[in-house]
Amino acid sequence: MIIAVDGPAASGKGTVAKALARHYNLPHLDTGLLYRAVAATVRRMELDPAEEADAVAACDFDELTLADPVLRSDEVGQLASIVSAHPLVRAALLARQKRFAHQDGGAVLDGRDIGTVIAPDADAKLFVKATPQIRARRRHAELQGHGSTVSFDKVLADIRARDARDSGRSAAPLVMAEDAALLDSSFLSIEASVAKAIALVEQQRGRT
Ligand code: DC
Repeated sequence: MIIAVDGPAASGKGTVAKALARHYNLPHLDTGLLYRAVAATVRRMELDPAEEADAVAACDFDELTLADPVLRSDEVGQLASIVSAHPLVRAALLARQKRFAHQDGGAVLDGRDIGTVIAPDADAKLFVKATPQIRARRRHAELQGHGSTVSFDKVLADIRARDARDSGRSAAPLVMAEDAALLDSSFLSIEASVAKAIALVEQQRGRT
């Protein structure tokens, strides 16, 4: 079974995807990490993220980069959003993601274009959303927990900027697949979001 989980930054899609992978005992790929690895490599090599050729050169990143905690930072997230708008960067990462999705036994992938581009044939598709304010509040609390003093307004502005870039690009923009089920996590606890996600997957896999 292939499960596609898409949604904007800090919507809770990663948490939902991990929980689904545990529940169904499937391997999980956070595809945002691939774009974050490209971004971190661009930065380390002092390349220009806005230049497609520079970003493509960084697609050949060292696999060890994927485990680097720096990938989780907001700065790398913003850079990832810039490099991911280049069609040739998306093309360079496509085969790897498709292979992961279509491995024997299936998989859970989360990102922006899993249900639309990577695995349009997924058995279940979820689109996880929450209001920008609520996503910013969660993200702000998380950053404060890590000792950051960044303001709520800055976190909200960053989320809005990333939404605009991820949805406005022409290459595989963030859109909900027509056959995806919507999961609005705005007013749900993590436990309630996960329970809802499992119920939606069960509904969808019974469809075919
Ligand atoms: O999910 P995330 O916040 O880790 O993703 C970081 C950036 O990578 C995001 O702003 C856009 C890009 N991305 C993408 O374009 N396609 C994906 N499938 C996953 C992430």
